[in-house]
Amino acid sequence: MGAKCNSFLLLSILIFFQSGCNNPGEGTGKEYQDSVKLTIMKSYFGKSGNQDVSLYTLTNDNGIVIKITNYGGIITSILMPDKKGKTGDIVLGYDNLNQYIENSPYFGAIVGRYANRIAKGRFTLDGRIYELAINDGDHHLHGGIKGFDKVVWDAIETKDSAQVGLSLSYHSKDGEEGYPGNLEVKVTYALNNNNELRILIEAETDKPTPVNLCNHTYFNLREADTSVLGHMLTLFADKYTPVDEGLIPTGKIAPVSNSAMDFKTGRSVGSQIGQVKGGYDHNYVLQKNPGELSLAAILYDPETGREVKLYTTQPGLQFYSGNFLDGTITGKGGKVYRKHYGLCLETQHFPDSPNQPGFPNAILRPGEKFSEETVFQFTVIK
Ligand code: BGC
Repeated sequence: MGAKCNSFLLLSILIFFQSGCNNPGEGTGKEYQDSVKLTIMKSYFGKSGNQDVSLYTLTNDNGIVIKITNYGGIITSILMPDKKGKTGDIVLGYDNLNQYIENSPYFGAIVGRYANRIAKGRFTLDGRIYELAINDGDHHLHGGIKGFDKVVWDAIETKDSAQVGLSLSYHSKDGEEGYPGNLEVKVTYALNNNNELRILIEAETDKPTPVNLCNHTYFNLREADTSVLGHMLTLFADKYTPVDEGLIPTGKIAPVSNSAMDFKTGRSVGSQIGQVKGGYDHNYVLQKNPGELSLAAILYDPETGREVKLYTTQPGLQFYSGNFLDGTITGKGGKVYRKHYGLCLETQHFPDSPNQPGFPNAILRPGEKFSEETVFQFTVIK
């Protein structure tokens, strides 16, 4: 990590935004002064059934503009400058709410109650077998047929001198998509002048239940004008969880060394993707102490100079290289999303954990609190 940061610093003639190797939140102090431009605006986005849906625009002093809707907790847009000062949108998505409702591969959404797959939609908990909705071949994916990405969340705007944000909450009923227990979920998005979007996800239950919640943003730092294969990626993980043909973990935890899975020192997404059947769609085991907020990934595009650093408290990160995008989706501004035109870095618990005794626990029990934070930090390197 140090070597990577140093080489970036050497290459940098000027770094527009706060950047470097420091932890999120450690800045110059400027970001904690009262800000005139940190704003949040609410507008009408459409209707889901008979429920009104809003779009919230969060802006900071440095011209970062993030749009979030309370339908699915979706980040619909992140605008940031490139190294020439030109502003562009670095995430995939749609212009209209109806397009999200009709057909979205989880663009920008909060996914749950269990992100990624649970094999055959079945698990045993405290001696009882539970059957979940099946929506991905034989398996359960991202919470089922109507996951948290497809519901309308209650929203409260928040603002103080340091950040502007949106607090979303959703009550998931006992039995929803087959899951046991009433689950109270809260997602807080907050943008500050350190160019960080902080995502805090919290949940509490009244019965033991599997819980795995994450944000499913597709990044393309070249505004989806080309694929992401030329982006440079660093993943702070020396192990990953291999999968079978149905993308279910085999239960093994394998080293990434000397293989196309290795992104420890940073290289282009496309450099060895041909050696990975189907492309990257794997959970990486992050090198960290449990629960610690630490640097998990750096995504950098040499062409635009845009960089996103991801910090997380979560134990894993699903790197999905947009393998199922196939040109059938036309997104924002009429851009066609072809194979590998976006990639996801989903900070999460490991897929299929309820069936994998060797994986970190993903069962939440009454009286416990699920609380995981992920930070996206945006930088331009000139
Ligand atoms: C999964 C992919 C899936 C995609 C859906 C990712 O989180 O790992 O297998 O196709 O979400 O968009």
